[in-house]
Amino acid sequence: MSRVPRAQEHLKTGFSSEATTAARYRACARSAEAAGLPNLARRWIELAEAKDELAALLLGAAGQVRETERAIADSIAEERYENEVLYPKMIREIGGEAEEVLLSVIAAQQGHVDRLEKLRGEVRSAAGSDVG
Ligand SMILES: [Fe+2]
Repeated sequence: MSRVPRAQEHLKTGFSSEATTAARYRACARSAEAAGLPNLARRWIELAEAKDELAALLLGAAGQVRETERAIADSIAEERYENEVLYPKMIREIGGEAEEVLLSVIAAQQGHVDRLEKLRGEVRSAAGSDVG
């Protein structure tokens, strides 16, 4: 069996780990900002940006950075899966405060799908030029 799929799997796992860490650091930055500690917030943001770099490196090495139209289509499909399958399944299994959070995520993500669809239309109209 080829080792390429295993390598790709590990690179994708690394991507997920670094991307998650970046998001966690950004949450720490928000918390620091809310606590009136802008310098601490900036340090967390700088660390998050460093993690973003590693995440992009790993995703690229895994061959998972798609051309624009495919990236947009994959993103729309992922958001719809989360909203129509993943989060509803979770909501059915839980209740209380976590359910409220997941419902708010679904609502926000619907807005993200709308933005991605708008972007897809603009990319198609721009036909190779940069979108406005
Ligand atoms: Fe999502």
